[in-house]
Amino acid sequence: MRTAIFATLALALPAIASADPMEDTIAARQGFYKLLGANVGIIAAMAKGETDYDAAGAQTAADNIVTLTNYNLAHVYVPGTSADEYPGKTRALGKIWEEFPAVAEKGAGLKAAALEMQAAAGQGQGEMAAALGKLGGACKACHDDYRAK
Ligand code: HEC
Repeated sequence: MRTAIFATLALALPAIASADPMEDTIAARQGFYKLLGANVGIIAAMAKGETDYDAAGAQTAADNIVTLTNYNLAHVYVPGTSADEYPGKTRALGKIWEEFPAVAEKGAGLKAAALEMQAAAGQGQGEMAAALGKLGGACKACHDDYRAK
């Protein structure tokens, strides 16, 4: 059984790494934001009434968002991985690497909003929906300045 798992892993590994490690870094960064978006999406769908409000599900999504905001992103923000170097492959603007303290403030804003969502998500559909505005605003604040259209 174990041997079979290792054999499968060994076959799968070459597919994980692409020719350019910088492109893997970009893909990992985008994967992080996809996860963030997927969890916000669960909450947004409940807020809009597209799916039924479910306190446990909303709480799990909010907890995941907080977990993600604790993730150290330094390794996916390697210099040389902006849209200047990789046009069409990433929307990360080059000024991220020039304005680092300001970018970190956007990250801190996201973390604060995520904690508010964590406190609200399981309390009811209205509480959750009220916290969503600030959370979405924290995403937008960074995208407006640091993500290409
Ligand atoms: C500190 C800045 C910052 C914050 C805060 C931020 N983002 Fe982003 N986001 C980015 C950047 C930069 C990109 C572009 C990444 C790339 O293309 O390499 C991005 C890309 C994305 C993408 C596209 C990923 C893909 O498939 O390429 C999604 C979805 C996303 N963000 C969702 C969110 C959500 C939801 C939030 C808030 C909960 C959020 N982001 C908060 C900077 C931020």
